[in-house]
Amino acid sequence: MGRKLLPKSALDAVKRSPRLYAGARALRFKLGRFVPPRQFDGIPGRIHFNDLGLPDDSPPSLELYRSGAELVVDHIEQSLAPARQRLTDIDAWLDFGCGYGRVVRALATRVEPQRIWAADVNREAVEFCAREFGVHPIVSTPDVATLTLPSVDYIYAISVLTHLPPERGRELLRVFAEALRPGGYLLFTTHGRWALDRPEWYAAAYAQMQRRLREEVDRDGVAYIPYHHYGTQDYGMTWHSSSRVAELVGSLRRPLLEQVLFAEDGLGESTGHQDVHVYRRSPES
Ligand SMILES: C[S@@+](CC[C@H](N)C(=O)[O-])C[C@H]1O[C@@H](n2cnc3c(N)ncnc32)[C@H](O)[C@@H]1O
Repeated sequence: MGRKLLPKSALDAVKRSPRLYAGARALRFKLGRFVPPRQFDGIPGRIHFNDLGLPDDSPPSLELYRSGAELVVDHIEQSLAPARQRLTDIDAWLDFGCGYGRVVRALATRVEPQRIWAADVNREAVEFCAREFGVHPIVSTPDVATLTLPSVDYIYAISVLTHLPPERGRELLRVFAEALRPGGYLLFTTHGRWALDRPEWYAAAYAQMQRRLREEVDRDGVAYIPYHHYGTQDYGMTWHSSSRVAELVGSLRRPLLEQVLFAEDGLGESTGHQDVHVYRRSPES
């Protein structure tokens, strides 16, 4: 069974009209609520039909879904290694922008789900994660400046800053930093050099914007194009230079965060070729 309701050519045509796309998308997600979640070999927990992290049920897509989540857990383990910590040494986790639990399902096989909080603006997704994996739900808000997060020891946000307007991404980093306990870690991903060199990998329309995107990233360290078909300025594609990310984190007043890991294109194709950044709040701060 395919999970897409329309072939790509029809979907591209619908995307040209934001209103039509919004209606079709809302209908697709409404229908998806009634499709029972499915279990697939080798993947812990069931997968919701509305989980767009799995575009179809083919073996390669299932493998990317599985291995992409494992890769995130690998990066988390690598970030803990210099402090000789293991996953089980972390008391409280936050998966920010958890979606339908692509990553949280992998983490919840290694640590007690009771130690994990899962946040998303999508209430259905958060409630699914809570029911399916036993984690604590947090329904987030698009206006991140007003967010109060629980104090935790490890926050990860996969493929979230990659879609937010730059000011919102910056604000989110501040909110994350404030939620970190002393010694806490922050892992997040951005679109970096790989994504800037091949913007057409994400959508054909970006090919002709490549020069402009490069210029903006060279000049401002960041470029952002809203998704025309979403009909909003608040969600789209965002590219960052790694130096800009370091500047943004460095400009946070308190607490001070130190970089513990940077993996360029660290998630590879499994998560849309994103750079992985991990920072740590000093245990003494
Ligand atoms: C591209 S998806 C990635 C999902 C998941 N992290 C993964 O890697 O499979 C981005 C997610 O970020 C969520 N998101 C966007 N803005 C958010 C916000 N302000 N608060 C919480 N979640 C947000 C979206 O709803 C979506 O589930």
